[in-house]
Amino acid sequence: MTIREEVERRRTFAIISHPDAGKTTLTEKFLLFGGAIQVAGAVKSNKIKKTATSDFMEIEKQRGISVATSVMGFEYKGRKVNILDTPGHQDFAEDTYRTLTAVDSVIVVIDVAKGVESQTEKLAEVCRMRNTPVIVFINKMDREGQEVFDLLDEVEQKLKIKVRPLTWPIGMGERFQGVYNLYESNLSLFSPSDKQRVVDSLDIPDIHDRRIDEIVGEKAAAQLREEVELVNGVYPDFNLQDYRDAKVAPVFCGSALNNFGVREMLDCFVQIAPSPRPMETEERTIKPLDPRFSGFVFKIHANIDPNHRNRIAFLRITSGRFERNFNYTHVRLGKQLRFSSPTSFMAEKKEVIDEAYPGDIVGLHDTGNFKIGDALSDGEQLHFKGIPSFSPEMFRYVENADPMKTKQFQKGLEMLMDEGVAQMFIKKANGRRVIGCVGALQFEVIQHRLEHEYGAKCRYEAVALSRAMWLDSDDDAELARFVDMKLNNMAEDKEGQPVFLADSAWALQMAQEQYPKVRFHAKSEF
Ligand code: G4P
Repeated sequence: MTIREEVERRRTFAIISHPDAGKTTLTEKFLLFGGAIQVAGAVKSNKIKKTATSDFMEIEKQRGISVATSVMGFEYKGRKVNILDTPGHQDFAEDTYRTLTAVDSVIVVIDVAKGVESQTEKLAEVCRMRNTPVIVFINKMDREGQEVFDLLDEVEQKLKIKVRPLTWPIGMGERFQGVYNLYESNLSLFSPSDKQRVVDSLDIPDIHDRRIDEIVGEKAAAQLREEVELVNGVYPDFNLQDYRDAKVAPVFCGSALNNFGVREMLDCFVQIAPSPRPMETEERTIKPLDPRFSGFVFKIHANIDPNHRNRIAFLRITSGRFERNFNYTHVRLGKQLRFSSPTSFMAEKKEVIDEAYPGDIVGLHDTGNFKIGDALSDGEQLHFKGIPSFSPEMFRYVENADPMKTKQFQKGLEMLMDEGVAQMFIKKANGRRVIGCVGALQFEVIQHRLEHEYGAKCRYEAVALSRAMWLDSDDDAELARFVDMKLNNMAEDKEGQPVFLADSAWALQMAQEQYPKVRFHAKSEF
């Protein structure tokens, strides 16, 4: 196969949802369809258990397991599908944001009863910022939920994207009988009997076929025809380019648990979802078909064995061909690196690969060379854009609790920050370190890992902060004046960029009103 063919057949995406909407179940059904696993349950058993919400030791244990589900590749209808796992747990939100920088599209799973929930909204915001094409899957149609039309309004409003249903449900909950496929104009009937294996559903190509009345009953058939007419009247026809430009999200309905509506979506997904898209760097736009090799690190996974401080850096290949045992340039360090055992991920298996193509994710063994956002190239100077840090939501001062272990403390913190466990800001006024996290559990994880992996102890001190805002302005003098006036709340991020640490939402609003020429950004790239 030529590189072009390899690139064009790749579909690299993430499934995003609020915890419990059905992401794991859907992922698993995709893998079943792709033949990558034989029975349901394989992915589920790797899932970070819900009970872990208040038990970080449990998360530590599972960290090792979850590396296996970080990327799940499989072949389907001649396409190479790469699913990137987005940890759904509250405390992994930053990691999840970053994963979205490495995908070409997403599938958003929504629970029909719960509608669009907070985490989905946040993640969709990142997708919007990057113009990532979105497909929506309304899950759990076998349960009672909201009216689908109402839910679609909610999706449009909260995810700020137009929708276009491509399948439509016949009833819901107890009355759920199947879906009509508007994209292919056929009907699939629900058979909830066998949840573990993939069963083909019955196809009836024409919505006016009287057989529908016989099977689902006249009332349900009439309602379906009426609703389909309404759908076709209300929503514009599906337009592929609008989807790829992230202007409209096709919507599918079904039940992941019951294997229903999943194949319809997957079949459509492999047809319409984009192959690897270009990536921006400071130097130039990298197109996937550019012959020169390039890639960037979007995630770093530490080994849980404290005796081996090895890590796995996840590299998204953006152009050219990656080869094993070849010398590549680590741009930030200006260093040549060679990888003797790069791994790819097929379902729950990890294997050493000889080559990989744009859209693929390769796991590289790392002894501390990589940071999130690092570029690997064939010698070219490249600095990737679009891998920003996002404002944390919780803050604490961190102090070294063992003066004999200062070096270990500094090294440990630095490594953990490179890995993206949390963000560290250095306050301008007093040089103190402030750690910012998305979830409170990360503070405990840092403390635990500093002690067990680096032999250092840390102590936290409360600090009343609510947001970290990156700054810029067209008026340098005004920005300097702001920094002077707000010195107590000013800090630097890991790149030395100025950050305003706002005490409260109110303080931020005041600052914005007082300094209209200063722009405040909730992420480090703008
Ligand atoms: P997540 O990864 O988004 O957190 O969700 P997950 O797939 O784990 O699904 C959350 C719960 O919802 C699971 O039940 C799962 O079985 C159920 N579920 C997923 N899809 C459907 C569906 O289409 N219909 C119905 N009725 N339920 C669905 P659980 O009881 O929490 O876990 P388990 O005991 O089944 O493993």
